[in-house]
Amino acid sequence: IDQILIAIDGPAGSGKSTIAKLLAKKLRINYLDTGAMYRAVAYYLKMKGYSPSEDLSEELEKLKIDYKDGDLYINGIKVGEEIRSPEVGKLASDFAKIQTVRERLTKIQRTICEKGSFVVDGRDIGTVVLPHADVKIFLTASFEERVKRRLKELQEKGIQATYEQVAQEMMQRDEQDSSRSIAPLKPAQDAFIIDTTGKTVEEVLNQICEIISRRV
Ligand code: C5P
Repeated sequence: IDQILIAIDGPAGSGKSTIAKLLAKKLRINYLDTGAMYRAVAYYLKMKGYSPSEDLSEELEKLKIDYKDGDLYINGIKVGEEIRSPEVGKLASDFAKIQTVRERLTKIQRTICEKGSFVVDGRDIGTVVLPHADVKIFLTASFEERVKRRLKELQEKGIQATYEQVAQEMMQRDEQDSSRSIAPLKPAQDAFIIDTTGKTVEEVLNQICEIISRRV
């Protein structure tokens, strides 16, 4: 096969990015983190003083978004850990409801994926961005487990947060992502739904590899 596209969608803390990164490495193909794009653009717009309710089209048109060797660049500047905080997560979700933002990023994501084989993670990859993806996976996990995972991730990065804070942020974000009118978070009709609660990363990876080998 010359090109393979694998879509991995799911809510926050479902294990998407961990699994997608490892899967890409295992298959020796590229990894695209679309959540990072929404985070970076929201962070940038906020820094420029914009709120989601304003007309963003002109600013978005000027914005240069590049993706090179797994790194994301906004106007030539490499995006780093500053986009990983829970606040930027919420901000990303607020801007991700806006049609002009989604149109711009969806277009960029499709263009990037034309250039090779990718594991792409996000919320609307199987449903909107790559409806013709070769394999679609939708990861879920119990709310409690997702909160615990996110809490651990933040602690490892040295970011202080309580269970309650993370739980509240996650609930709000999931609710907003699932209920928005454009490209809401939901499994594609032809997605394989995997509940990762109580499963190790290795187990989930193996399950996905099995699905891929049956499909491709
Ligand atoms: O995956 P991550 O938590 O980094 O995504 C941050 C936010 O970006 C999500 O809560 C969602 O609102 C938005 N997003 C999206 N579509 C995607 C990826 C992320 O709307 N494909």
